[in-house]
Amino acid sequence: MKIVFVNPVGVIGGAERVLLTILAALLIAQPNMQLHLIIGTDGPLREQAKKLGVQVTLLEIPEEFNQLGDSAFKGNSKAIAIFILLSQIVKILPSIGKYLREFNQLLHELNPDLIHSNGIKTHLLTALVGLKGIPIVWHIHDFYGSRPLIAQALKLMNNRATFGIAVSQAVAQDARTTLPGLPIEVIYNAIDIDYFSPAPQSSHLPLRVGLVATFARWKGHDIFLEAASYIVKAHPNLNLHFWIVGEPIYKTRGSQFSQQELKNKASYLGIASKVSFLSFQQDIAEIYRWLDIVVHASTQPEPFGLAIVEAMACGRPVIISKAGGAAELFTHNYDAIAVPPGEPIALAAAILDLHDNPEKRQVISEKARRTVTENFNHERLSHQIMVVYNKFNYK
Ligand code: GLC
Repeated sequence: MKIVFVNPVGVIGGAERVLLTILAALLIAQPNMQLHLIIGTDGPLREQAKKLGVQVTLLEIPEEFNQLGDSAFKGNSKAIAIFILLSQIVKILPSIGKYLREFNQLLHELNPDLIHSNGIKTHLLTALVGLKGIPIVWHIHDFYGSRPLIAQALKLMNNRATFGIAVSQAVAQDARTTLPGLPIEVIYNAIDIDYFSPAPQSSHLPLRVGLVATFARWKGHDIFLEAASYIVKAHPNLNLHFWIVGEPIYKTRGSQFSQQELKNKASYLGIASKVSFLSFQQDIAEIYRWLDIVVHASTQPEPFGLAIVEAMACGRPVIISKAGGAAELFTHNYDAIAVPPGEPIALAAAILDLHDNPEKRQVISEKARRTVTENFNHERLSHQIMVVYNKFNYK
């Protein structure tokens, strides 16, 4: 069986890490399977997939198409937004036409049994080329309902896709409304539980509290900083330091914080000396183990929240903004701590509570590791993906 995966970008965010896990898991479970990956921009994903033994082709998606997104239109009325989008689309039509011809030709040459698309932009592209008789699986990592323009475009074309895989029940529910008619099944993400493994627990001074995320505006860096400032103001002598780990990796216009913006916010809150930044980390498990408390602070419902299960697998106590798919991953006060999204005072209280209770941190960390090894291992993932592929494997 030959599968062609298509991913819009070559940088590695959550969706790309899941893609790498799927590729690795399939190659272990199905050594004879042929896997090919097409990426739309260059980046470290290319080498990492190659290292696994996957053939990779870079077919550059035109820059203008890559920057297309709803976030650019925030604050405008729907009519203006649609006008802007349409004028952008008209401008990019010639380059998209050329791209689609090349994409179509490449797919014909590769002649796959199935196409597995991993991002919104490649969902659109796979629908537009529509190879006759070849099933198309859309892997859904986001809430499309909250991105009205993109959702509209996908809706127009969802009859070209064969099947949808949603990363959580919450995402599936949203996708069933946004893409009516597309059969959708939930397959929770998985991680490499050997790589994401705990180290002997040792607390540091100052205690390290970290947010690990891309710099998307809804990941709650601002809430994290506000929580930090409540703590620092109320307890100036507490031995805590706050870490922001990550970068603005995706290029969709207007969607990301810049590091400078976050630094300015920390200065404005008067906590600049209590906050440090670490950019994109190759060895991220090392970072989780290095932190004492991991915070997830998304202000919008998180589709899944890969960083949550990664940190839990590393045996860290995680404070989780409880909404969307993230709420499905844990049990409050058992293997992680829940806080309401967008509420810095509640987050500050949860951090303080864990700071004051090393034993609670220890107990939660152990349960967290167990939850992930049981529910988010890659054997489960490859098995479920194969069940989906086999539905459409007519040969
Ligand atoms: C997207 C989602 C995130 C999820 C990741 C992997 O980045 O925003 O919640 O963990 O995809 O599915």
